[in-house]
Amino acid sequence: HRVAVVVPAAGRGERLGPGAPKALRELGGLPLLAHAVHTLLAAPSVDVIVIAAPPSPEGVAEVHRLLSGLADLAEAAGHRADTRVVPGGATRQESVALALAALPEDCTTVLVHDAARALTPVDLVEAVIGAVHGGAAAVIPVLPVADTVKAVEGDLVTATVDRSGLRAVQTPQGFTRELLAKAHAAADPAAPATDDAGLVEALGLPVRTVPGHAEAFKITTPFDLVLAEAVLRRRR
Ligand code: CTP
Ligand code: MG
Repeated sequence: HRVAVVVPAAGRGERLGPGAPKALRELGGLPLLAHAVHTLLAAPSVDVIVIAAPPSPEGVAEVHRLLSGLADLAEAAGHRADTRVVPGGATRQESVALALAALPEDCTTVLVHDAARALTPVDLVEAVIGAVHGGAAAVIPVLPVADTVKAVEGDLVTATVDRSGLRAVQTPQGFTRELLAKAHAAADPAAPATDDAGLVEALGLPVRTVPGHAEAFKITTPFDLVLAEAVLRRRR
């Protein structure tokens, strides 16, 4: 009953501005993906890591290079997770589906974790795995919404939404393999979901929450990269 983590890392990073695919952009001298994988290697419950790489031949080769760079470090620290790489797809949903197709048979718990959440703490990964092993078939980390949220039409406000019932959603999201496979099998590639729990909700099945972590924020814009550099400096 092994635990696998699927890492969608195939996005272009358009909101980050021109440059390499986002997962390969650097933060403190290392690609975002290297930070994310390093954390997963350090998580004691993670057995297998499957990365959906930027789909170009250069992207896939770069991810293999990055993994061999981490291998020595991982071995020295006694980490033993297997790593696999597949070329990703045109949408996040497709990238996850392609990685799921490369999962070893004996993985019964599967997490999906954005490469772009490069600074996610190990403890959050372990908490999500713990919740799945505790009996929740679908688990997501969430945070309260800090800002006041309003509905608009054009530039006109139509309503203030009650934020007490809203949560911002992070990764890793955890699932039994059976449920995640079923959710992806039922998904519509023409109307892709932005997270995997959404596919479970579409089946009408329950998704549970655990407390998220501020440092699991998604690096999306150039400002997020500045924030990530500051978080990293404080850690080191
Ligand atoms: N992702 C993926 N395959 C895609 C699109 C996204 O694997 N076709 C991954 C990204 O690499 C990222 C995660 O899904 O780790 C979350 O996506 P997002 O933050 O939107 O990243 P990008 O799509 O790269 O960024 P942008 O939308 O700004 O282009
Ligand atoms: Mg995107």
